[in-house]
Amino acid sequence: MKTIIEPFKIKSVEPIKFTTLEEREAILERGFYNLFLIPAEDVLIDLLTDSGTSAMSADQWAGIMRGDESYAGARSFYRFEEKVRALTGFRHIIPTHQGRAAEKILFSIAGGKGKYIPNNSHFDTTRANVEFSGAEAVDLPCDEGKDPDTPADFKGNMDLEGLARFIRNIGRANIPLCMMTVTNNSGGGQPVSMANIKATRELCGRNGIPLFLDACRFAENAYFIKRREPGFAERSVESIAREMFSYADGATMSAKKDALVNMGGFLALNDDALALRARNILIVTEGFPTYGGLAGRDLEAIAQGLDEIVDEHYLEYRIRSVEYLGERLVKAGVPILQPPGGHAISLNARKFLPHIPVDQYPGQALSLELFRVGGIRSAEIGSVMFGRYDRDKKLIPARMELVRLAIPRRVYTQSHIDYVIEAVLEVYREREKLRGVRIVEEAPLLRHFTAKFEKVV
Ligand code: F0G
Repeated sequence: MKTIIEPFKIKSVEPIKFTTLEEREAILERGFYNLFLIPAEDVLIDLLTDSGTSAMSADQWAGIMRGDESYAGARSFYRFEEKVRALTGFRHIIPTHQGRAAEKILFSIAGGKGKYIPNNSHFDTTRANVEFSGAEAVDLPCDEGKDPDTPADFKGNMDLEGLARFIRNIGRANIPLCMMTVTNNSGGGQPVSMANIKATRELCGRNGIPLFLDACRFAENAYFIKRREPGFAERSVESIAREMFSYADGATMSAKKDALVNMGGFLALNDDALALRARNILIVTEGFPTYGGLAGRDLEAIAQGLDEIVDEHYLEYRIRSVEYLGERLVKAGVPILQPPGGHAISLNARKFLPHIPVDQYPGQALSLELFRVGGIRSAEIGSVMFGRYDRDKKLIPARMELVRLAIPRRVYTQSHIDYVIEAVLEVYREREKLRGVRIVEEAPLLRHFTAKFEKVV
């Protein structure tokens, strides 16, 4: 078997800063033991997110120069609109400055008190936007998706029986729309099968409930379908992606993921009345409908990125390099969410650090230690991000305690990843010495961004 290589050469480089262990300990203390609060400059390998961190191609940078900055009717908008429409098939293409802006607009219209939004798993911003509107966000992951240890092909799937039951119990009138996140980010970047998207569409369709895709990582999802689902091996990723969108009535997209740009997003949909209301909000909060929250040059870069993302050499390298990291860790006995996801490896902190109780946030402790030991920034996706309190202020923990190593697109090479593997293994060897953390300050929504912690001694 031949090595799968990066399908690009590097034209422009950015130095990274090396720090000592003592320096990193001081950086952590100054950042209140929250990796969102430390300067990125102090990070050696930044795996906090794959969002907005992609390296753009020479053609995208050329598009930046070609960008038409006219207020209305810019050429760049038409190129963007044409590309997104060709890919998704939706009638109305509304540019926003990022994914959550599309969510905010959608749920300001569709959400509200007494409404319920089901999803295979809401991402944190989606959940926050649903809840901010007064509606309730409900996660309905399939059973395999709840078990971090057993590999399965499509652990991102929606629990179809659960959704049917949910619709019966809540009543279709209280469910303005159903979301489906591809790939399922909160569940570890696991894909959703075409069969599951289709069956969800049929169930929603029978009940008159529109289906929206949260399509941030649609290309990675389509590639998994090609690789894993019978009947798709010979199809192009682009045609698989088009079929995925064909079952939906609309989509929100953070272009910061699978459009390979540093900023951007869109809301796309078929319903004329909904689109009219969405554009009215857009004008107040984002901008005129032919630029939304973006510059013309951003629209050019997105259109170009959407062409590049469905390249199958790129996707083969992308999925394989994440898998490589996962395989090496598993071989050394490190507990990860199985199988590797499309954009990330998720360390299973509950198993990695079984001696740290959930209310001392094992995921947070592990991500801090990875920084201390290796200068690597990861993200806790566990009870810091998704925990709630009951009436007595007791923590209701998240379903899983994960630490996500998200891999930016086209940024790091195999030796960077080998270094990450060495650092994780070093932390793993010394894991019994690690202690938890407690929260000393937090915000009511999206607390993981700003919470301050202290070490439990
Ligand atoms: N939906 C999903 C599934 C996401 O992963 C994200 C962002 C969003 C919506 C919101 O998009 O950031 O452009 O406003 N996820 C990033 C992450 C932040 O790190 O996973 P945005």
